[in-house]
Amino acid sequence: MGKVAVGAAVVCAAAAVAVTALVVRHRMRSAECWARAAAVLRELEEKCATPVEKLWEVADAMTKEMHAGLESEDVSKLKMIISYVDKLPTGDERGLFYALDLGGTNFRVLRVQLGGREGRVVRQEAKEVSIPHDLMVGGSDELFDFIASALVKFVDSEGEDFHLHSGRQRELGFTFSFPVKQTSVASGTLIKWTKGFNIDGMVGEDVVSELNKALQRQGLGMQVAALVNDTVGTLAGGRYDDNDVVAAVILGTGTNAAYVERADAIKKWKGPLPVSGEIVINMEWGNFSSSHLPMTEYDNALDVESLNPGDQIFEKLISGMYLGEIVRRVLLRLAMQTALFGDNVPPQLKIPFVLRTPVMSAMHHDTSADLKVVGAKLKEFLGISSTSLKARKVVVQICDIVAKRGARLAAAGIVGILKKLGREGSGMRRTVIAMDGGLYEHYTVFRECLHGALNEMLGDEASSSVVVNLTNDGSGLGASLLAASHSRYLEQS
Ligand code: GLC
Repeated sequence: MGKVAVGAAVVCAAAAVAVTALVVRHRMRSAECWARAAAVLRELEEKCATPVEKLWEVADAMTKEMHAGLESEDVSKLKMIISYVDKLPTGDERGLFYALDLGGTNFRVLRVQLGGREGRVVRQEAKEVSIPHDLMVGGSDELFDFIASALVKFVDSEGEDFHLHSGRQRELGFTFSFPVKQTSVASGTLIKWTKGFNIDGMVGEDVVSELNKALQRQGLGMQVAALVNDTVGTLAGGRYDDNDVVAAVILGTGTNAAYVERADAIKKWKGPLPVSGEIVINMEWGNFSSSHLPMTEYDNALDVESLNPGDQIFEKLISGMYLGEIVRRVLLRLAMQTALFGDNVPPQLKIPFVLRTPVMSAMHHDTSADLKVVGAKLKEFLGISSTSLKARKVVVQICDIVAKRGARLAAAGIVGILKKLGREGSGMRRTVIAMDGGLYEHYTVFRECLHGALNEMLGDEASSSVVVNLTNDGSGLGASLLAASHSRYLEQS
C-alpha cells in the first residue's frame, strides 16, 4: 500500500471513530435527557396525586370553611355571599324579561317570553358578543358602554312575538360572574376582579349603578330587577326544570358553586327570616385554599405571577383559564432541562397563557396511533415544527395529570357541599346539581374523571342519588327567571 493510501485509511478510520463517538455521546445525552424527563414527570405525578383519602380531606376542609364563612364575614377564604335570592322559580313566571350575562371573554344578551305553568318558555332569543381584550383591563365606562350599546341593539331587534305588559318598563336579570357583596337582590358592590379582568376604579362600586349609568348614556329605559352570580342564575335555571336541584357548579373559565341554605343556619344574616326559610349562597369556592390541596412548584409560580397572587387558589388548580397554562409551565421546564423539543427552547413556549385549555383538551383526546393532533397543535400554537412520538406522548401524559387533578378536586368540592347539606350518605334523597361551563361540557376526560371521583368518594349507592345535570346557558335563563320572580311589578299587581 502506498503512503497516500495508508494516510487516507488512517484519516477515514479516525473520522469513523469520531462519528461513532459523536453518535454515542448523542445517544448518551439523549438517554440522560429522557431519564431526566421521566424524573420530572414522576415528580409531577406524585405531587398532583389525589387518592380518595386526600379527596376526603379536601371535602372535609371545604365543609369546615363553609361553616366558618356562614358564621361571620372575613374569617374564611370562602366568602359565602348571601345572594338575597329567597324565591327560586316555581314555573308560574310570566311576561317578557331580559338577561345580560357578563363573566368571561364573551357576554350574552337574552330575551325570553315566559308563559306561566302551561306556556313555560314560550320564546327565547340570545346573542353572544365577544369582549375585546383591552376592554377587560381598561376603564369601567368603556366596558359598560360597550355592553349597554349591544343591549340597545338587541332590544331594537325585538320582534312582535315578544309582548311587554303595557305601562311597564323592560326588566333585566344581570348575571355578573365576579365576587359581589350583595346589598339587596338587585344591588351589590364588586369585591375584586377574577379571571383576568382588571378594570380600574370598580372595586367597591355598585355594579348595578355602573350599568344603569351606561344604560342612561345610551338612552335605554330598562330596570335591573336582579343582580346574580352565574352560579345563582344556573341554580335558578336548574330549579325551573327540576325541583330536586339544590346546588349549582360552574366549571368554565372560572369555577364556583352556589347552593340553597337554611336561612337560620346563616349566622351572619341579620335580616328577617324569609318566608321560604331558605336563601341561596354564592360560595365563591374559587378562592378556597387548604393545606390539603396538592400543589406543585408550577402552581406556586403561576399564582405568584398572576394578576391576583394568593387569591383564587382552587380556581387556579381547576378551571379552564389555568389548566393549559399549568401544562405550558411543565413543558417549558422540560424543554429547558431535558431538550424535549430539541436543543433550543421554542420561543413561543415562553409566552404566558399561549396554551389554552381547549388546545390542551384537543391534544389530550388525540387517539391516533402517532398522536398527529398533538403534533399539529404543538406546531400551530407553540411553533414547534417537529416532535418525536416519545415527546408527544409526554405531552399527553402531562395533560392527563393536570386535568385529572383538577376534575377530582372539583368532585371533592361537590362532596363538601353534599356533606354540608347532609346528603353524602346512603339512602338519601335524589339530589341534583345543575352544572354549567365549557370545561365540563367540552373536556370529556375531565368530565368523566369528575364523575369517577364522585363515585369513588360516595360509593355506588349514594352516588346513584346524585345527579349532575348540564344546563346549557342555564345562568342566562335563570337570571331572567329571577328578574321575573323579583319583578317590581309583582307587588303592584
Ligand atoms: C370566578 C368568579 C365567580 C364566578 C366563577 C365562574 O370564580 O369569581 O364569581 O362564579 O368565576 O364564572
